[in-house]
Amino acid sequence: MPVELAPNIYWVGVVDWIIRDFHGYLTEDGSTYNAYLIVDDHITLIDTVKRDLVPGMLARVAEIVDPAKISYIVSNHVEMDHSGGLPEVVAAVKPDKVFCSPLGKAGLSRHFKQDWPFEPVKTGAELSLGRYTLSFLETPMLHWPDSMMTYLKEEQILFSSDAFGAHLASTARFDDHLPDSPGDYANQLKKYYANILMPFGGLITQLFEKVAALGLSFKIIAPDHGLIYRKNPAWALEAYRQWAAGAPLPKALVIYDTMWHSTEMLAEAFMEGLMDAGVQAQMHHLRRTHYSDIVTEVLDAGLLLFGSPTLNNQMFPSMGEFLTYLKGLKPRNKAAAAFGSYGWSGQAVGLINQELEAMKLKVVHEGFQVKYIPDPEELAAARALGEKLARGNLSL
Ligand code: FEO
Repeated sequence: MPVELAPNIYWVGVVDWIIRDFHGYLTEDGSTYNAYLIVDDHITLIDTVKRDLVPGMLARVAEIVDPAKISYIVSNHVEMDHSGGLPEVVAAVKPDKVFCSPLGKAGLSRHFKQDWPFEPVKTGAELSLGRYTLSFLETPMLHWPDSMMTYLKEEQILFSSDAFGAHLASTARFDDHLPDSPGDYANQLKKYYANILMPFGGLITQLFEKVAALGLSFKIIAPDHGLIYRKNPAWALEAYRQWAAGAPLPKALVIYDTMWHSTEMLAEAFMEGLMDAGVQAQMHHLRRTHYSDIVTEVLDAGLLLFGSPTLNNQMFPSMGEFLTYLKGLKPRNKAAAAFGSYGWSGQAVGLINQELEAMKLKVVHEGFQVKYIPDPEELAAARALGEKLARGNLSL
């Protein structure tokens, strides 16, 4: 049964029930690749899906129209989960035109080296399909240089590409039961923002200003992953507005790894101190919580405490991996400090501090180190320091 968003506008995407690793991001609930079909004088397909899922998408299109009758393809984003299927789709459809941003044309040409009938479009360009009109909105670096969104004026539908998406495989297509179901969708939305869009908060704020200046309003937001917002698009908009602003909560994280539990003892002592201060606090072992889930919690935390033993004069490898990932996401407005146990040399804390400074986090302590196993006095000092750092750096 075709899924209709508005008269003659359909979801024709594919649910990916089995994916658990999306370029390193833990997709514990699977994903969806949303594509949309507009049946008008010029039948138009907005976005495609991963290459191996094209048959499922074309079968869904065929429930509505013969795919060969599609005139236009709009490619909002070059990344392979949305354009990987383009060669097969273009071959099946033979479209009159493929609309994309100018950088989209460059990216698609570089990926596929095909002489497709590209029609680059800039912000404000309009395309009449017959009854319906599309308007294009370039959104460079949200989250690739080529990214754009497409707005269907008559029904006020924003085809938002990755923005407002979430990785979820579900039989639900719409947000009709949010925020309570399905599953913990609010957290999936936050996880997606944290892992994909966190570096671009400033650009998102600017986009909100641009959308206001253009006088656009949205009855439906149709992203390329997860649920379509028709009941409460304002819910997703407000969540993005807040995350983009980057104001932290009175919340602290202890993120650590350990060799023989000494650094773990310190982590537990810091947690006690955070609890003494009365802040929200979480403790994450780097080999027990996936880094994409830790980053979800980093998004709105105001204080980050990183614990690592020193191994062969280095920080522990899992900490190096995590800090590399976190640095790319450009976290803002956070205080941070490092701690750890060491045996005969203690480089880990200094190396972590270098990374925190490179990230432009506010390093609020020179680092707390203990040789071998912490004794009761050292644990008490770690606890007291945890409380002090929370009281000094979080709004309580
Ligand atoms: Fe869902 Fe940037 O791709």
